[in-house]
Amino acid sequence: MNSKVYIETFGCQMNVADTERAVTGLRKAGYEMTSASDEADVVLMNTCSVRERAERKVFRRVSELRKSPRHPVIGVMGCVAQLEGPSIFQRAAAVDLVIGTQATDRIPALLSRIRAGEKSVIDLGERQPGEIWDVSPAERRSPYVAFVPIIEGCNKFCSFCIVPYSRGREKSRSAVEIVAEVKRLRSLGYKEVQLIGQNVNSYRPKSDQGLESYAGATPFSRLLRAVAETGIERIKFTTSFPRDFHPDIVSALEECPNLCNWVHLPVQSGSDRILKSMRRGHTAADYLRRVETIKSSPRQLALTSDIIVGFPGEDEADFQDTMRLVRECEFDGLYIFKYSKRSGTPAANLDQAVSEAEKKSRFLALEELQISLQERIYENQVGRKLSVLVERQSARSSADMTGHSTCNKVVNFKGDTTQRGSIVDVLISEGKPNSLYGVAISG
Ligand code: 5AD
Ligand code: SF4
Repeated sequence: MNSKVYIETFGCQMNVADTERAVTGLRKAGYEMTSASDEADVVLMNTCSVRERAERKVFRRVSELRKSPRHPVIGVMGCVAQLEGPSIFQRAAAVDLVIGTQATDRIPALLSRIRAGEKSVIDLGERQPGEIWDVSPAERRSPYVAFVPIIEGCNKFCSFCIVPYSRGREKSRSAVEIVAEVKRLRSLGYKEVQLIGQNVNSYRPKSDQGLESYAGATPFSRLLRAVAETGIERIKFTTSFPRDFHPDIVSALEECPNLCNWVHLPVQSGSDRILKSMRRGHTAADYLRRVETIKSSPRQLALTSDIIVGFPGEDEADFQDTMRLVRECEFDGLYIFKYSKRSGTPAANLDQAVSEAEKKSRFLALEELQISLQERIYENQVGRKLSVLVERQSARSSADMTGHSTCNKVVNFKGDTTQRGSIVDVLISEGKPNSLYGVAISG
């Protein structure tokens, strides 16, 4: 019997959550999990297609695995599976199984078909009613921080993005289920939940159930209040979409101390011309208005963002608009991406491609700017007391422990492994480009 399963996960937190969910189902069906791919009878790759490089990685891995002496069953799941479908069997003959993004709960049944001798098994179907979003706590990646999907898919169709095609339309999970899961996680000792979705603030469940007693201008801010009332120590949420970023989200953060002081709000570009061509549905000024609401909160909210450089047609003036916006926003962190053409998206048909050399030079210029701004932001933390969830020993020094602050910054401090899973106050003594260092003054 093919009994040991190894899963490799690429890409975003949604994929991490899907892997946890797949493992829950596989174990229930009697499979054992292994962390060594060469011991596995079944190898599944949970894939990402958001940029071309991520996608190429999958096919490189398949050809490595093909040579494994155990000849495992090889399955491709996740976004590449959904998008490429049966063509994966042609491109990589070693693949036995293709599992779409909504078929995670059906993997055991698909594997049984392979065991029964069927070849090239594929499932690109939708999630079925009654299939659970639940994850067994034993399968979660961290015993302290749990990802809780609240919405899947995307209806925004930004012109560069493959997600609406790989993950389908937005589907929100019921508030009753979400709150019940958070309560369960809390009773199991989890300290932090991260509510995840491509656009969490577009949360729109089929019914009001579970939200009746919570006021708020949008279902998402009501959900935030409902989750806060579970009493779990820390709640983070990502990613927010600017057009749907209602100021009431900031009000909720101000009312509920266990909602963490961090917002991830991708802007993608600072040029109105490019934003229009990206079909983002917001201008730079719209974005800055949201930033103003966030920055003027007495709660001191950290703000992070994503930017794409080298989108087709982006000229030097557009890029300078982006540089100006970044200077103005003073992001606590910024993920910068070089535009990657994804076939099937509207932007793939645009001409005026930006050369690789130009993309690279814009990437480096923006990165340099962000580093210089971030250095100041991080240095400004010196002397402050941050609340840190201690996650693990630091990779750099065994005398140090590391974790994240409520504002989602990496914080290191002198400590020991008995502190793992606890929340400590750390007095910051030093700011580094991407992390802070300090002294634990409690816990
Ligand atoms: N090229 C480059 N970056 C992309 N992203 C999404 N699609 C592309 C693409 N085609 C980036 C966006 C998004 C982040 C998750 O990935 O910045 O916010
Ligand atoms: Fe992609 Fe835009 Fe949807 Fe984000 S909002 S997942 S960038 S289409």
